[in-house]
Amino acid sequence: MARIGHFTLSRYFSGWNFLEDEKIPYNLLLLADETIEAIEKYIFNSELFVVEQGDEVIAIYALYVLNKDEIEIKNIAVIEAHQGQGIGRLLLQDATNKARERGFKALLIGTPDSAIKQLRIYQKAGFEMFGVKKRFFIENYPEPIFENGVQLEDMVMLRKLLQ
Ligand code: ACO
Repeated sequence: MARIGHFTLSRYFSGWNFLEDEKIPYNLLLLADETIEAIEKYIFNSELFVVEQGDEVIAIYALYVLNKDEIEIKNIAVIEAHQGQGIGRLLLQDATNKARERGFKALLIGTPDSAIKQLRIYQKAGFEMFGVKKRFFIENYPEPIFENGVQLEDMVMLRKLLQ
């Protein structure tokens, strides 16, 4: 468990090994992903880390192992009232530390190509673009997704080398 300012960052659960009274905080995860169905493709095989303020979960990220060398942040979200306060940056740093400590060579993260703010945040945190998953948001979601009037199509993949 680590302290982030006056918040506590704790390991929430991994896979199915969570305490019965701990519910998956879909409200937060849905800020970063469009549907529960999409979230359930990775969440049960992810390790979740949350920031709690009192009883409330105010931020989260999910780490998903891709292979022996690579681990991906599949979801990262901060509740709106606490966005822009540096919590996202600290979560990215925490994920970097955990990935490095565990011996992974690279930490990955993906975001829609139109998500300029997120791209900037990830680049500031040391991630570099290395690929594009073409038509990801068309082929993996049942309905077209629009953000700021733009239909999401491609996912940009970014990577931070750790060694
Ligand atoms: N435009 C440009 N830069 C910004 C903005 C903005 N609107 N907001 C913050 N930044 C900068 C900050 O200045 C900061 O830079 P610094 O490190 O030099 O100080 C950096 O981005 C990080 O800012 P934080 O305050 O730490 O970011 P925040 O706590 O708001 O978390 C996050 C960022 C997770 C993207 C949050 O805004 C959020 O939950 N958004 C909605 C969900 C979302 O889009 N999640 C990502 C989807 S992709 C995925 O999950 C893999």
